[in-house]
Amino acid sequence: MSKILILPGDGIGKEIVAQAIKVINSLNDNNDMGMSLEDGLIGGAAYDETGSPLPDETIKLAKNCDSILLGAVGGPKWESLERNLRPERGLLGIRSELDLFSNLRPAILYPQLANASSLKSEIVSGLDLMIVRELVGGIYFGKPRGIEIKDGERFGINSATYYESEIARIGHSAFQIAQKRGKRVCSVDKANVLEVCELWREVMEEVSKDYPDVTLSHLYVDNAAMQLVKDPKQFDVIVTSNLFGDVLSDCAAMLTGSIGMLPSASLNKNNYGMYEPIHGSAPDISGKDIANPLATILSVSMMLRYSLNQEELAKKIDIAVIKVLDKGYRTADIAFEGDKIVGTMEMGDLIVEALES
Ligand code: IPM
Ligand code: MG
Repeated sequence: MSKILILPGDGIGKEIVAQAIKVINSLNDNNDMGMSLEDGLIGGAAYDETGSPLPDETIKLAKNCDSILLGAVGGPKWESLERNLRPERGLLGIRSELDLFSNLRPAILYPQLANASSLKSEIVSGLDLMIVRELVGGIYFGKPRGIEIKDGERFGINSATYYESEIARIGHSAFQIAQKRGKRVCSVDKANVLEVCELWREVMEEVSKDYPDVTLSHLYVDNAAMQLVKDPKQFDVIVTSNLFGDVLSDCAAMLTGSIGMLPSASLNKNNYGMYEPIHGSAPDISGKDIANPLATILSVSMMLRYSLNQEELAKKIDIAVIKVLDKGYRTADIAFEGDKIVGTMEMGDLIVEALES
């Protein structure tokens, strides 16, 4: 029996996570593998109830579970709070607290959704790349940080810092993933300007010696952004720092037509993981039953694959999603003329039906 901590969070979080729970319940009913669910608080919802975006209780629950499924955090309601109390702090805090340093963000273009991409279909059709983003270091967490008064004016500081051990471990993650895919790693940095990136590049070269079957290349981040929209199929695995990975993964997501389709995994060194859609809490569409639950449902598939060692069940979910897309069902974000538009709940039901058929 695996224990899963469910953290719905804010905005559309609750609605989309509810659809993923239907999928988990259906797997539980039809397979030997049991997943027991516990609920926890994070983000604005946690702040409203406890005064903290990441209550100690949530960390305790997380440490007692095998995996976490998260919806999304944030919304205008909490934007004026002091920085430490904002919902995003809850997310950054749990990543750091559990040392979830390896963030896997696949960008796959479903052939059924080729029309939804903003790029020409010959440029994106068949796209399947994986961004491996360092998630608990770099400028997101480096010190010193803050806003102070210097020379009589306000002065803002953040620090981009990496120990070589932090670079090496994300490097190993990326190379090991590449070994199971196309055996190519592209490391993205800004080594022409930043010393921390010079070290990044050196350490990636050192790590690559352990993986003679994988080819390593390097790109500066500005060029990488350009290449992603010019010729995204040149990439297999991209490994990069926290901030560059944040930016490039949104860009890669949009190549696939909708950010509503993409799951992610954040893993620690034991493959303990937190799984979440890469999109945000979309407060503007929350409560309207129009959000796309597929990224969250596909996050359950990633959980089964990467943390719970249930490749067969993961595949079942992936196939159910393809079946439903094949039948022409779409949530509004991925719909085109002639498609059957369904709401969040109906999409969840359709996936369950496809799983059980
Ligand atoms: C992401 C998000 C977060 C990040 C925010 C919500 C803190 O943009 O997961 O990509 O910057 O990491
Ligand atoms: Mg982001």
